[in-house]
Amino acid sequence: MKISHVDFSGWQANKVTIFTGAGMSAESGIPTFRDRMTGLWARTDPMEIATPWAFRAHPQRVWDWHVHLGGAVLTASPNAGHRAVADLEQRGVHVTVITQNIDNLHQRAGSTKVIELHGNLLRLKSFVDEEAAFAAERPPMICPVCNGYAAWEEHDPYANRDDLLAIQLLAGPVPHCPGCGALLRPDVVWFGEPLAPEALDAAWDAVEQCDLLIAVGASLEVEPAASLPWRALQKGARVIEVNPAPTALAEHCHASFAGSAAEVLPTLLASLWATT
Ligand code: APR
Repeated sequence: MKISHVDFSGWQANKVTIFTGAGMSAESGIPTFRDRMTGLWARTDPMEIATPWAFRAHPQRVWDWHVHLGGAVLTASPNAGHRAVADLEQRGVHVTVITQNIDNLHQRAGSTKVIELHGNLLRLKSFVDEEAAFAAERPPMICPVCNGYAAWEEHDPYANRDDLLAIQLLAGPVPHCPGCGALLRPDVVWFGEPLAPEALDAAWDAVEQCDLLIAVGASLEVEPAASLPWRALQKGARVIEVNPAPTALAEHCHASFAGSAAEVLPTLLASLWATT
């Protein structure tokens, strides 16, 4: 049966955007960043392990921290909240997920329209040390394997993209691009780095298009992501927040549920959609 509209006490929505932060995955066993006792930043200074400068200075330390987080991600499973969002899409509702999370859990739950604002921990890319690359005698070349700047031209002409894709986020020495030898790093957005323009454009577009945005498990402390739910509110979409610790958005949005993603979302999404 095709569900083509949302009916929630007189609200009608045809395009829904689900905006998620680390709290969305908390019940899957992945720590959040800023929860007081359990947050990752309560135990580690993000400037030490989540910036390009930290990686340039101590690549192995940064790699090892991401491998440890990757262990939690690989053993995690989507929770009832992820599944409720994916079910909605499978029932024919126009759903776009904008996630700040790097854990792939929305996709593993079955959501197909997922915008990864901050990248994906399990995807690797080359560390583009532009300083080194452009300081070299000759201008850097673009490595055909990793598309990064190769500071030197002795690249392996027989290496290809599959050789790069075969490398995983695993314990051990920091791996190198098989083509040009550049260090590899997780394809996530570190502090001080810009978001991928295509992801950010898609996110703004999903906010402009939606008539309902549900913000789940986000502290709304990191820009530009934090502005997205506010933009939805400003342009007249209905906005709902799901967070056990309501943010400033709660006083302005249309409904705020001070509960967890896995507890609230299944009931909330079921009550939002009337079958027609
Ligand atoms: N269900 C829903 N929300 C929860 C749950 C839960 N079970 N548990 C915690 N929360 C809420 C917290 O109250 C908090 O508001 O999730 C939010 C998590 O906030 P952060 O740890 O700051 O995570 P996030 O908002 O995703 O951080 C944004 O900051 O460090 C960067 O790149 C990192 O993407 C991250 C960004």
